[in-house]
Amino acid sequence: MKQGSLWVTVFLLNAIWIAGCNPATTDNKQPLDYCVEQAGKTAAVLTNDDSIPRSIAHGQTNWRLVDYKDWTSGFWPGILWYVYEYTKDTTWKTKANGFSQTLKPLAFSPAYDHDLGFQLYCSFGNGLRLTGDTSYKRILLATADTLATLFNPTVGTILSWPREVQNLGGHNTIIDNMINLELLFWASKNGGSQRLYDIAVQHANTTMKNHFRPDHTSYHVVVYDTITGQPIKKQTHQGYADASMWARGQSWAIYGFTMCFRETRNQEYLAFAQQVADVYLKNLPEDGIPYWDFNAPDIPNAPKDASAAAVTASALLELSTFITDTAKADGYRSKAEAMLASLSTAQYQSREVNSAFLLHCTGHKPKGGEIDASIIYGDYYYIEALLRLKKLKEGSKL
Ligand code: GLY
Repeated sequence: MKQGSLWVTVFLLNAIWIAGCNPATTDNKQPLDYCVEQAGKTAAVLTNDDSIPRSIAHGQTNWRLVDYKDWTSGFWPGILWYVYEYTKDTTWKTKANGFSQTLKPLAFSPAYDHDLGFQLYCSFGNGLRLTGDTSYKRILLATADTLATLFNPTVGTILSWPREVQNLGGHNTIIDNMINLELLFWASKNGGSQRLYDIAVQHANTTMKNHFRPDHTSYHVVVYDTITGQPIKKQTHQGYADASMWARGQSWAIYGFTMCFRETRNQEYLAFAQQVADVYLKNLPEDGIPYWDFNAPDIPNAPKDASAAAVTASALLELSTFITDTAKADGYRSKAEAMLASLSTAQYQSREVNSAFLLHCTGHKPKGGEIDASIIYGDYYYIEALLRLKKLKEGSKL
């Protein structure tokens, strides 16, 4: 890793981008306007609210569509809410509400797995934030109670994949699960039980204790003994190897512990968020966009994961607002801005290739799924990060 040249490159990209004359975007709109235009192209080809865009395979132009049960179902409605937030155009609000409503049955059915937070908080959570619609609040509170049914007090975490208990040999928790805690924190402060807050805190504490190596890189999956509550296996699922740093897993950790600090003000989470961010930043390639796994054996020919970059950029922008050491805070913010500048070049934006926002995301490399593709969660965190940056520049609250 050539640290010096990385930051010279990102500084230049950043400076050019901030000046509004990025050479790669002179022929293109500013990033948020670009997102609106691309979202409009996608919206135009969707025939009903039950067909939710998930990914576009490398070299193709058609979205793979899923229904509300898919773990990614909340990201498209979430994007629509963000587009509405940016444009204030109620046409987008109508679309956002329509797609969000299709997810409603998840709130009132037995939990299939931990992804309820991703699904309902990205959709109805953003909807509630922007509209104050109390019917959304009822749905979110019910979802939090549904998610809480997966909590195991002996272990101290939420069961991520009930369907894998037998196969994996115990109660399993994946690092991605950190993101779902945001729904529990919200619910506990908005009419739900205190128990939801306690579950979120216990999950974060147990994860902090068991899910990381001494260098603060994350395991993807930890399997726990349900009798003793102790970890019995630490392994990967979507990464290269059990001991490797799977890029998106690490980005979930950065985002998750930053959010946990926001919700609890526990300094331990803030310190931990910085440690998991620092090991990620230290090992990035020159353009600030990680390979799908930091230990992939075929680097520099391995596929990138722009979705991990988008998640991390969004997380670092928030993290920068919590740090009192100005130099450190500015460092996180400028690195996030540089990542967004990189993602906003012709190399990473889809532009005329397809109607997603980004190219070069990697979903499940070991399974051969969604490699070097456009993936909806990459787009979701990209627009979220762009909006966060806009708010920071305006001096408004994230
Ligand atoms: N939660 C699954 C993933 O990050 O791919």
